[in-house]
This record gives sequence, C-alpha cells and structure tokens, in this order.
Amino acid sequence: MHSIDILVPSHKSKYSVLVGTDIIGQISKFIDLSGYSSVYIITDSNVARYYLDTVKDVFAHELHRKDIHTYIFQAGEQHKQLGTVEAIYHDLAEKRIDRKALIVNLGGGVVTDLGGFAAATFLRGIACINISTTLEGMVDASVGGKTGVNLGILKNYVGVFAQPKLVIADSNTLKTLPDRVLLQGYAEVIKHALIADKRFFEESIKISPLKMDDDMLLQAITRSIEIKAQIVQEDETEKAARKLLNFGHTIGHVIESLSMNTDKPLYHGEAVAIGMVAESYISYLTGMIDENEFETIENAVRNVQLPIRYIAKTTVKKVFEKLVTDKKTESGNIKWSLLMGIGVGEFNVAVDDKFVREAIEYILAP
Ligand code: GLY
Repeated sequence: MHSIDILVPSHKSKYSVLVGTDIIGQISKFIDLSGYSSVYIITDSNVARYYLDTVKDVFAHELHRKDIHTYIFQAGEQHKQLGTVEAIYHDLAEKRIDRKALIVNLGGGVVTDLGGFAAATFLRGIACINISTTLEGMVDASVGGKTGVNLGILKNYVGVFAQPKLVIADSNTLKTLPDRVLLQGYAEVIKHALIADKRFFEESIKISPLKMDDDMLLQAITRSIEIKAQIVQEDETEKAARKLLNFGHTIGHVIESLSMNTDKPLYHGEAVAIGMVAESYISYLTGMIDENEFETIENAVRNVQLPIRYIAKTTVKKVFEKLVTDKKTESGNIKWSLLMGIGVGEFNVAVDDKFVREAIEYILAP
C-alpha cells in the first residue's frame, strides 16, 4: 500500500491518501472512528450495487453497531445539482445527524464532489472521508478538497474548498468499471505527467491502462496523486500553481458541454484528452513547445486509446464563443494553463485569439 500525505496549510493539518488493493476492509487501521457519533454514507445507485453493503459492514463492525445511515442518489452527472444536496440535507436533519458525525463519500467524482459539499455545508461542516471507486476520482476528484455541484449546465459553479480527513483508493473497485470509464480517468494521469514529470509521462504512455496489471495501475495512480498533492499543498485555493491542473480543461470543458446536446456525449476525461491535444497545439503555435514535442503528446494520447479529435457537427465559431462564458475567463481574457515542455506546465498565459481558433480548428478536423 502507498500512503501520500497532503498538507492543508489553511488548517495546519494533513490527511492521507491511501492507494492499494483490499484496503477498504482495513479502514479502522487508518482512521480512529471512536470519536464519531454516527456514520452517514453517501453514494450513487451504480456504486451502491457493488460496494455499499461491504462498506456498511466494515463500519458496522468497527463501530459495533448497526445504525449506519446511507443515502443513495441516482447516478449521473445530471444529478450533481443543488436539488440532490438539499434532499441530503433533509435526510441528515431527519436522521438527527450532528456535527460529530462522519460522512463517507463512496463513489466517483460526482459522489465525492457532491457529498463533500454536503458535508462541508451541513451544520457548517461535518468531517468526511472519500472512498474513491473510479480512476478519475482516485487521481483527481477525491483529492485536493474541491467540492461542489453544477448549476444547471454550468459545471462546478457552486462549491467550497473543504478537505476530507482521509481518502481511500482501492484498486479492487476499478475491476467493475467499464473499459471506457476506466480509460477516460487516465486522461488526468497523463495531464499530471505532462504538467510536472517528463519521466512519468514517458512511463505512463507505454501501454493503455486497459492492458496494465494491478501493480502498474497502482504505480500510475500513486505518482499521479503525488503530483496533485504537491500542487494543492502549494496552492490550496487555486490562486496560482493549482491553475496548472486546468491544463486541457479550458477547451475540454467546452467540448464536453457541447457534446452533451449530441447523440455522442463525451466523458469528462475524453473531453480533457481532446482538450490537452488542443492546448498542446496552442503551446506549439505560441512557440512554447516544438513540433516534435507536440507530436509526441498527440501520439501518446492516441496510443493509450483516448480520443484526439472532437467529431461532431459544430464550428470553430461555436466552440470559440462558448469559451468566453467558461468560468476561467477573467475580464474577457482567458488565462491559459499550457506547456513549456513535456513535464513543464505554465499558468496564466495570455494567448492571441488566432492561435486559439487555429487549435480549435485542428481538433475539429477529421
Ligand atoms: N481538478 C482540478 C483541481 O482539483 O484543481
């Protein structure tokens, strides 16, 4: 098992992210549960089918009682809304969950974002832990304390920074993921490598995660979390270095949301993969990386079996116009997170619109 500590400067505290196989059952070794008044597990309908009973049993056994509360909401990004949070608040209140309770967010990014937000805001804040069950969640969403929900179609418009007490990433939970879901999570692994660690990039793109054995996958997850941990402890609330984590996401978010209205909606990681190609292309057009480096990146994304083009009936104009409503714009000027090299990210980069349009054109070309 690997353990990565994340310092939380604002609270002068730290928490651990545990990465391993068969670790869910050993939770009590890693967190002292004796001080909590009750345990309230938040999960979604997909994850509940596979893991809720196991996790419930673990806590019931550890706490020597059966009153472990659960809340299951309908799986899907469309349910990552304030309405779901409100329903959870009512349930928490009905079950008289107090400030000394522990909330356990069991699931992927939607669950840990939404459950983390509910925990951070109910009674002005209850402790929570994340048990992450998707690759995307393990390497990104469950780590770093970004919690929140979408506001209609506006992604993550409502939320707070609130750090969990513990994060558990058990590779067993990846075994039930459909290939496409596992693969899309790998986009965030490649992103971490590209912005911070060239050697890791070279290692991580040798084969598709679909062909990796447990050890290889665990190593990629661990290194990826280490990179994110280093960045978020340097800049917890995204005033500076954390912006690097937005690499691939500026254009990625736009095509992700455009794709929602088509018959081929993209997973977040798929959109990020295409976004990384586009934003690497901008890095190339602006002279920050050379052609060779750009081609290496594009080939790598393709070789791990992630998409590199956005195939849909849309136009450069449409994609570009949507960019200006993206939340990462400041006074109409987009501040880009780009690459100065493979393994070297750069944030707050101003880019001439013509390069942005050219990059959009590039990823729209068949
Ligand atoms: N997902 C990017 C971040 O946590 O900042």
